[in-house]
Amino acid sequence: AQNISKNALLSGKRIMITAGPTREAIDPVRYISNHSSGKMGYAIAKAAVELGAKVTLVSGPVNILPPENVEVESVVSAQQMYDAVMSDIGSHDIFIACAAVADYRVDNASNHKMKKNKDDGLTLSFIQNPDILKSVAALDTAPFTVGFAAETQDMIEYAKSKLIRKKLNMIAANDVSKPGLGFNSDKNALIVITPEKEYELAQASKDSLAVNLLRLVEREYQETQK
Ligand code: CTP
Ligand code: CA
Repeated sequence: AQNISKNALLSGKRIMITAGPTREAIDPVRYISNHSSGKMGYAIAKAAVELGAKVTLVSGPVNILPPENVEVESVVSAQQMYDAVMSDIGSHDIFIACAAVADYRVDNASNHKMKKNKDDGLTLSFIQNPDILKSVAALDTAPFTVGFAAETQDMIEYAKSKLIRKKLNMIAANDVSKPGLGFNSDKNALIVITPEKEYELAQASKDSLAVNLLRLVEREYQETQK
């Protein structure tokens, strides 16, 4: 594999990547979201194109420009991301779930801008969003599925349990409690876990991690095609 030219590694492969946060409406002018910048997912999309893949990027709202030669589908909420992924995933070989999908949405979102009451607090109730990654992995003709696990404690154990529970081919775990890594940062470090193996991708720029992650994805994907 070392001698294969960079452009050939993923040529002919169709890869779908989710990236960024989702926004869950409280009312027409307010939402709940998270600190995901989309940088890791966008870096993977860019690297995948450079390695010759055809890339679909399903992205929540972010402040960065998509890489060239990527088909972008912009979404806002988790439900919209789920719908966009499920309607198009059939034509893809590999699915990489990088998005920080909101686990819950507001159950009783208001159709009109909410007014404040004099002295009362505010209680919102939530219901769970569909698990996009788990739904893709459960398809009869599931692509090779890669999840991410952002954890602040017991990273490897939680990541392994997600790999098994969601029936994934691979999960990339990152410790978001480490200052300067992960969420919103330009750097990251990953432990990549498959049902049989564990790889460490040491701290590096998200751009260089993306290429190295895709090399592992390609290697493991080929194993499943034997
Ligand atoms: N994911 C997804 N759809 C969701 C929630 C998560 O596709 N509704 C994906 C993420 O993109 C990520 C993986 O699942 O690749 C793991 O997300 P994470 O939040 O770490 O795991 P959860 O299963 O949501 O568990 P928890 O938040 O309780 O740790
Ligand atoms: Ca979650």
